[in-house]
Amino acid sequence: MSFRIEIEPARLPAAGGHAWLRLEGWCIALFHADGRYYALDDSCPHQGASLAGGKVVDGKVQCPAHGLRFDLATGCLQNVPTVKVVTYPIHIEEGRVYLSLPGPESTT
Ligand code: FES
Repeated sequence: MSFRIEIEPARLPAAGGHAWLRLEGWCIALFHADGRYYALDDSCPHQGASLAGGKVVDGKVQCPAHGLRFDLATGCLQNVPTVKVVTYPIHIEEGRVYLSLPGPESTT
């Protein structure tokens, strides 16, 4: 079971930008690319570096630590789709942006 949380407008990145969010104990890398928002877990599966400051090119974020690239929409590592970063759904309703996060029973 998941729950939704509204992202405050002031915390939303501008087009082409990114933000680091801590919401309900979750660390989220939020990107605004190609007219959409993408939310990924802010921990690279390689060695845990923050992805929030990574460069975005062609719908992929490049980890600032060692350069691995992850698809913003799927979280999959480029050329190795079995390795991925957790992604979180974003919904926009009446101009408000909501992030869906797993409920407590989903994480055990
Ligand atoms: S920690 Fe991200 S590529 Fe190494």
